[in-house]
Amino acid sequence: MARRIILDCDPGIDDSVALSMALFHRSLDVVAITAVEGNVPAEMATKNVQTVIEQLDPPRLPRIGAATPNDNPDYRDACFIHGRDGLGEAGFVTADHHQRHFSEKIICDEVRAAPGEIDIVCLGPLTNVARAIQRDPHFVENVGEIIMMGGSFNGIGNITQTAEFNIYCDPESARDVFHAPVKKTLIPLDITSQVQFAMNVLDLLPKQSTSVGRFLRRVIPYLFRSYHEQLGLEAVQIHDAIALLQVIEPQLFELEAWAGDVEVKGELTRGMTVFEKRRARNTSHNLEVARVVAASDARQAVMRCLNT
Ligand code: RIB
Ligand code: CA
Repeated sequence: MARRIILDCDPGIDDSVALSMALFHRSLDVVAITAVEGNVPAEMATKNVQTVIEQLDPPRLPRIGAATPNDNPDYRDACFIHGRDGLGEAGFVTADHHQRHFSEKIICDEVRAAPGEIDIVCLGPLTNVARAIQRDPHFVENVGEIIMMGGSFNGIGNITQTAEFNIYCDPESARDVFHAPVKKTLIPLDITSQVQFAMNVLDLLPKQSTSVGRFLRRVIPYLFRSYHEQLGLEAVQIHDAIALLQVIEPQLFELEAWAGDVEVKGELTRGMTVFEKRRARNTSHNLEVARVVAASDARQAVMRCLNT
C-alpha cells in the first residue's frame, strides 16, 4: 500500500528534484502538492508547482494548492539561489490556471477526508501547516506525521548566521508547528548539507527522452552557477531531495528524540531552532530529529529514485 502524502513546497530547484522523485515513486501516492511562499513569492510558488507538474507529466495528477503571502515582515525570497523564476530561469511556458483553493484548505480537506492516513512532507516554510492547524480544530488528531526539511541542530544557519531559510521565512508558524501535538520528524540543514552533488550529476539523470531527464537538465544547471557565484562552492546541496529520501528510505538516517523550539525574537537569532541539550532535563521531546545520514548511500539513493 503506497504511503499517502501531501507535498508542501516552494519550488525552488531542490523542491523540483524532490517532486521529480515523489511523483513517480511506487511507494508514494502524492495526494496533493500545496504551494507555500518561500524560495519565491506566493503567486510564483503556485505557478511553479503547476509548471513542474506540467513538465513532469506524472501518471497520477495531484491536487494543487495556491500559496498566500506569509505574515513575516522580515521575509525575503531565495531567487539569488533558484533564479528570478525560481526554476533556474529555464523559461518554461505554463498554461493559465483557473482560481485554485488555498493550500491550507486543500491540506485540511484531504486530512479530514482520510483521518490518520495522510502524512505531510514540508519542503518549505511552515506557513500552510500552521494555518491548517488554526483552521481546523480536528487537524492535529486527524493528520498522520509531519516531516519537515528545516532548522539547524548545530545552530549554524544558511540565510542568517543562525537561521535556516524555511524556518526564517516564517518563524511564528514554525513555532506553532513545533508545539503541535503531532508526530513530527525534522531533517535539518546539518543533515541535508552533508549530501553534496558534483556537476557529473547531470550525466546520472534519466535519459533526455524522459520527462524527468528533460526537466531536470533545464533546472539543475542554474544551481551550480548560483552555488559557485553566491556561495563559492563547486558542488550543490539538494536539501529537499534528502528530506524526501527520509520518507522513502528511512534506513539511511538515524533519528533521535529531542525537545526543540523556534526563536521568534532575537536580532541575531530570529528563526533559529533551539534544542534542549542540557543533560537530564525534564523537557518533553516534541521532535524526532535526523542526526546521522549515510551521505554516499543517500546520494546514490536520490539518483536511483530519479531513475525509477
Ligand atoms: O534551507 C534550505 C531550504 O530552503 C530548502 O527547502 C530550499 O528549497 C529552501 O526552501
Ligand atoms: Ca524548499
